[in-house]
Amino acid sequence: MEIRMEKCKELKQKPDQKHLGFGKYMTDYMFVMDWTKDEGWKDARIVPYAPITLEPACVTLHYAQETFEGMKAYRTAEGKIQLFRPEMNAKRMINSNARLCMPEVPEDMFVEAVKALVKVEEDWVPSEPETSLYIRPFMFATESALGVHMATAYKFMVICCPVGAYYAEGINPVKILVEDELVRAVKGGTGFTKCGGNYAGSILGQVKAEKMGYSQVLWLDGEHRKYVEEVGTMNIMFKIDGEIYTAPIEGTVLPGVTRDSMIHILRDWGYKVNETRLSIDDLMKAGHDGKLEEVFGTGTAAVISPVGELRYKDDVITINDFKIGELTQKLYDTLTGIQWGKLEDKYGWTVEVK
Ligand code: COI
Repeated sequence: MEIRMEKCKELKQKPDQKHLGFGKYMTDYMFVMDWTKDEGWKDARIVPYAPITLEPACVTLHYAQETFEGMKAYRTAEGKIQLFRPEMNAKRMINSNARLCMPEVPEDMFVEAVKALVKVEEDWVPSEPETSLYIRPFMFATESALGVHMATAYKFMVICCPVGAYYAEGINPVKILVEDELVRAVKGGTGFTKCGGNYAGSILGQVKAEKMGYSQVLWLDGEHRKYVEEVGTMNIMFKIDGEIYTAPIEGTVLPGVTRDSMIHILRDWGYKVNETRLSIDDLMKAGHDGKLEEVFGTGTAAVISPVGELRYKDDVITINDFKIGELTQKLYDTLTGIQWGKLEDKYGWTVEVK
């Protein structure tokens, strides 16, 4: 693909790598490419990061025909820059787009766009421990029309920002509220996609959780409000009596790249991983019976986040004395070890940006 480059007049001052937080400082450039029904993808370009103009009648502003991805670039001790399983993000976006009737960004184009932007922004990939360059590919309808239909024009863009931990807690345990009233997804809906609408619908639960002193919401299935599914920004895994449990990918849960990687590593280590429905009642009972050994969330932004407390209605359980579990720590060290190039990548997951 030919990518046109438009240079910035002046580059931004880079933020202090020790206080990056998450998603606050955008880099100098962004990747943009347009799609029309008649011409397909065209005009791939890397241009200065800047506001974009949209018609007030733009379809996305009204009907949310929008999808996105989350991935990271890591700087290794030798100064190499690498991505982690970028083809998984490309494939997931293809699946999200199919559900939202949006055109496909072919896998090779997606990966090429990400690599090209990261290469241009290589000085923005931070080197402080636990930091990385977060990459946000996204796509949306640009057509101006108020009838509800499949749009005929779209933009695919990629922006980046250097980040530290997603949660203020870092790798320390977070408190999670089990949402028993609102739901996130039902079978046949968009739960398995990474579309903005899923997140918009989750914010009320998040607000409620924060008011009660919790970091995030654990969603139950939308039909019975009985089976545990996922947390606002991550998948979730439970270690019960030595075995791992996580919700199956059956249309309502996001097929997380970190989730998939954890399952591979855990099975490699000999753990039984049950991708199965687990009821909230069984989970709370396991907590009270002392069988719930560890709980952790997995996600690109959050990496691996230990859960120290779960509240379901008036029932509260503390997990592992509110300390990070041994397995959670080992998984974190292994995954981030591969991502930051400190451990051998025997799975072939990392892709160098040259
Ligand atoms: C990610 O983990 O990359 C995500 O996209 C979660 C995000 C909504 C913060």
